[in-house]
Amino acid sequence: MKFAASLAAAAAAMMMCATVSAAGMPPQIPHPIDAYKITDANNPCVMCHGDQSKIGQAKVAGQPSAMPADHFVKGQKKADPMHNNCTMCHQLKK
Ligand code: HEC
Ligand code: HEC
Repeated sequence: MKFAASLAAAAAAMMMCATVSAAGMPPQIPHPIDAYKITDANNPCVMCHGDQSKIGQAKVAGQPSAMPADHFVKGQKKADPMHNNCTMCHQLKK
């Protein structure tokens, strides 16, 4: 059940990604991510990219920008199910 739900979310997110990429491409990931294992229950990326007080602020070199507001579960330091699987949209910079 839970698996089916995340598959549905993944499919929806992929569609969203295809629609959205024409307008604003997801920025590429400039650092290694091998150490960050994303699960439904825990997303280590949000630890660094989940500071909601920084949403929309200009990028500061060397510091993680906050995810856009549409990535969050409203009011929580947490990605919504559509955005939890970061690497579905954000590619690793080569
Ligand atoms: C330990 C903190 C940390 C974690 C965990 C982390 N990042 Fe980052 N991330 C950074 C920093 C710092 C930068 C900015 C690097 C720079 O400016 O050169 C960055 C940059 C980025 C960027 C480019 C936009 C920006 O903010 O500059 C993306 C996209 C990104 N990270 C995605 C991810 C994803 C996806 C994960 C999880 C797989 C993740 N990050 C985990 C610290 C982190
Ligand atoms: C459905 C596709 C999708 C998923 C999944 C996704 N993102 Fe994004 N993300 C985007 C797009 C598109 C943008 C560019 C938004 C814009 O230009 O306004 C973006 C922008 C960002 C930015 C840059 C914000 C800024 O102000 O420059 C960060 C950081 C980021 N995402 C982190 C993450 C992290 C961390 C995850 C996983 C928790 C994630 N994203 C999951 C599509 C996605």
